[in-house]
Amino acid sequence: MNLESKNAVVTGGSRGIGRAISLALGRKGANVAVNFSKDESAAAEVVRELEGMGVRAIKVKTDVSDFGQVQEMMALVREKLGSIDILVNNAGITGPHTSIEEISPEEWQRLIDVNLTGAFYCSKAAIPDLKKNRGKIVNISSIAGKMGGTLGVHYGASKAGLIGLTFALAAELVPLVTVNAVAPGPVDTDLISDEVKERLSKLTPMGRIATPEEVAHAVICLLENDFISGEAININGARYMD
Ligand SMILES: NC(=O)c1ccc[n+]([C@@H]2O[C@H](COP(=O)([O-])OP(=O)(O)OC[C@H]3O[C@@H](n4cnc5c(N)ncnc54)[C@H](OP(=O)(O)O)[C@@H]3O)[C@@H](O)[C@H]2O)c1
Repeated sequence: MNLESKNAVVTGGSRGIGRAISLALGRKGANVAVNFSKDESAAAEVVRELEGMGVRAIKVKTDVSDFGQVQEMMALVREKLGSIDILVNNAGITGPHTSIEEISPEEWQRLIDVNLTGAFYCSKAAIPDLKKNRGKIVNISSIAGKMGGTLGVHYGASKAGLIGLTFALAAELVPLVTVNAVAPGPVDTDLISDEVKERLSKLTPMGRIATPEEVAHAVICLLENDFISGEAININGARYMD
């Protein structure tokens, strides 16, 4: 797919990996709806940067775990940008606890609701456009979805679930829509603490964690390719291979 003038929705597009994906899309000439849930000023800054590149951009405050809000977001995108060509399900959270003994049922549910159900809701709401436009979905999973990781059972389960969602949706939507995932190891964003970044850098054969731009680059490759579908690409500096 030539990304120029295509309309993209990036959930959690205001900060970290989502911000890098939004800006990489803008550099390719795509218009971007930058979704956020709380930090409006961060989303506004990304929109300003995108407009500076000459593409159209809007910020959309939506909690992806609320299907009504997600439907409203997609309707707003259609109204302001036009029909949706690209969906990047990136919004994600960690919880306050990582041990199963401390993770409450409410914490489990909230994390699954945002990280996994949010991707289902956004995909479901965008599917009519994506089918019509022979569009693309990329889901931001994690190394934790393949090897567990250290952020807790809820996080690992949500990211493994995203890979299952990717495979099932790729099979269902072929040949109209390609559906892929990326599974990054630790990335230099606000999601993980400096202590965790330092510890995990030492565990990574490349000796460092990834930059958000390196993840965005892989996402752009998947969006530009029309034959890769049902793939979950590792981005982990040779730490884990499968
Ligand atoms: N950083 C890593 O090491 C790493 C590694 C592998 C995978 N990932 C995954 O990559 C994705 C992005 O992570 P990141 O590191 O860039 O995180 P981040 O810097 O904390 O940014 C998270 C983004 O998600 C948005 N968000 C959070 N809850 C939301 C909700 N309920 N509805 C809509 N948007 C919501 C945030 O917006 P507000 O600020 O407005 O809430 C923000 O834009 C996540 O899915 C994460 O699990 C991260």
